[in-house]
Amino acid sequence: PRPVILDGDPGLDDAVAWLLALASPELEVLALSTVHGNVGLPLTTRNAGVVLALAGPAGEGVPYGAGADQPLVVAETTAASIHGASGLPASDLPEPLRAPESEHAVHALIRRARARPGEITLIASGPLTNLALALRLAPELPGLLREVVWMGGSTAQGNRTAAAEANALSDPHAARIVFESGLRLSMVGLNVTMRCIATPERIHALRELGTRAGRVCAELLTFYAGVYRARYGLEGGALHDPLAVAAALRPELLDWQDMFVEVEVQPGPNLGRTVCDLYGVGGHAPNASVAVGVRHEAFFALLLERLATLP
Ligand code: BDR
Ligand code: CA
Repeated sequence: PRPVILDGDPGLDDAVAWLLALASPELEVLALSTVHGNVGLPLTTRNAGVVLALAGPAGEGVPYGAGADQPLVVAETTAASIHGASGLPASDLPEPLRAPESEHAVHALIRRARARPGEITLIASGPLTNLALALRLAPELPGLLREVVWMGGSTAQGNRTAAAEANALSDPHAARIVFESGLRLSMVGLNVTMRCIATPERIHALRELGTRAGRVCAELLTFYAGVYRARYGLEGGALHDPLAVAAALRPELLDWQDMFVEVEVQPGPNLGRTVCDLYGVGGHAPNASVAVGVRHEAFFALLLERLATLP
């Protein structure tokens, strides 16, 4: 199996994403690391422990730890209106099985990358603060990680502002550092994730799995659907972060285009925008492989098949 570290801000779609990764035999989940984002760091970290407990045997022995509690420059923002006050709005949640690691997640990432040079894929589903800090502490990191797959940004519109996607806007300076780093980077942005909707039929299929994991995912996505209906006029929530895990598992579920992406860090209406040079008109060498198409039915079938293996 391919070794991965999952870095994110659970957050209900992060939780579904991490369950997908833990349930997938092609991936060896080395660790979970948390960051500020959808809710504050103490809650995203606690939620990581809850997700591991929910995964049953697949989560046993997987360590988790806390990373950055603040963005690099901008003020912290959270999204409790979308993810609930706790980040995991569901009733039947287990307690975390154990405490988080005491080592800071940024140090743990560098330590693990050095131990397995060229092997580890980092799947990031939150603001990129941890990875940016790791790049500053260990500038050799681009040569140590196999790949980074990030859910964030967009080739087109934003969701937190007209221009910016939430993970990019939550720490634009970190995202800029990552895109300038030379890391092998795949971006799974809103232009594809907003096409992967947890419709009522899909939520029903998850509930019908008859497992606790299926019921919890259905409950989370039902909460999320209410928000997405009111805010975006969609019939359900977008499966942003699970699509990033699926992209690492099965890149052929998406269409990809190499391009130059620059993150706007100037204050103003474009702060946090991922400016994507689709036509290569700027003359810069590509720095990312950007998802531009998705087979959402095959993606959801994979998600359902994998979640079905959890208790
Ligand atoms: C991203 O922002 C967060 O709210 C979600 O968890 C996802 O990672 C979508 O813009
Ligand atoms: Ca997230």
